[in-house]
Amino acid sequence: MKTQELISTARLMVDNHKGILAMDESFPTCNKRFAKLGIPQTVETRRAYREMIVTTPGLGEFISGAILFDETIRQKTKDGIPMIKVLIDAGIIPGIKVDTGAKELAGHPGEKISEGLDGLRERLIEYYQMGARFAKWRAVIVIGEGIPSKASTIANSLTLARYAALCQEVGLVPIVEPEVLMDGSHTMERCFEVTEEVLHEVFNQLYIQGVLLEGMILKPNMIVPGLSCPKQESDNKVADATVNCLMRSVPAAVPGITFLSGGQTSELASARLNAMNVRFKSKLPWELSFSYGRALQQPALEIWLGKEANVPEAQKALHHRAKCNYAARCGEYNSKEIVRIAHQVKKEEN
Ligand code: 13P
Repeated sequence: MKTQELISTARLMVDNHKGILAMDESFPTCNKRFAKLGIPQTVETRRAYREMIVTTPGLGEFISGAILFDETIRQKTKDGIPMIKVLIDAGIIPGIKVDTGAKELAGHPGEKISEGLDGLRERLIEYYQMGARFAKWRAVIVIGEGIPSKASTIANSLTLARYAALCQEVGLVPIVEPEVLMDGSHTMERCFEVTEEVLHEVFNQLYIQGVLLEGMILKPNMIVPGLSCPKQESDNKVADATVNCLMRSVPAAVPGITFLSGGQTSELASARLNAMNVRFKSKLPWELSFSYGRALQQPALEIWLGKEANVPEAQKALHHRAKCNYAARCGEYNSKEIVRIAHQVKKEEN
């Protein structure tokens, strides 16, 4: 195992208050988001959109790594530069999504299992040779009446652990993502209970498979009420519940925890991450960071709308959200005023 390389890549992914940009939407997900805004759903629009993202000036000030989809890692900008090279030149580590999607779990209506283990070793070797240095696998856990079942929790945890071990074998840092979905009317307490149980099983399986905890990143959900739960919670309550849950279930050897946004608004995702860092930063064994998809991209996508003329404004919006989340990692996010942060970046560069 490339132990030292894994440890140093994992550290780079969470150091200096930077976070990870998830831009790895599969065809159906990306197309659905384009369709909602009337953007044509073609190979070329997806390429142009991803080019807009990776060429955003100054993105590397706040973003340490970007997760790509298989289509994107093979694409070039309109000037013929491979997307992956644009990222590396900007100081951003390229990563790759490697699960092939969440399918129905046999015998368990309403539950999911992520697929993609067959042939994974060969795919990982190819991605490493292309320049990727980390990977992502998303497992989906659904909360509902009588679910998640033990079957879903164990099957998804074992699959995540097998994926993580394969990644480390070739030198890719695995992002282990067990996402407990926000869909539903469950309370924050129920989300806590389910997430705690899932994380215990995930780390149990990672241990059994011999995964190097120092060379991986955990990407969990925050502890939040379901989207249609009548009782929503304050940022501080979400921060307390999330950190308490993680303290109970994530070993201190893991270098970083990078949250998914999961359908929270951009502002909420930043405000809650900020609250966690304000209240707990100095007391935690791991870095608390972000690996947002929608919470980073959505404002930019809504400005871009598939039009070349909108690229500069869309890039400004993406840069702004990246800066907001960098500020949240410092515990200095304020939705109205984050000017101070600009000075801090300058200082760190010197
Ligand atoms: P969201 O932040 O939009 O949930 O996406 C993160 C991600 O990578 C999901 O796998």
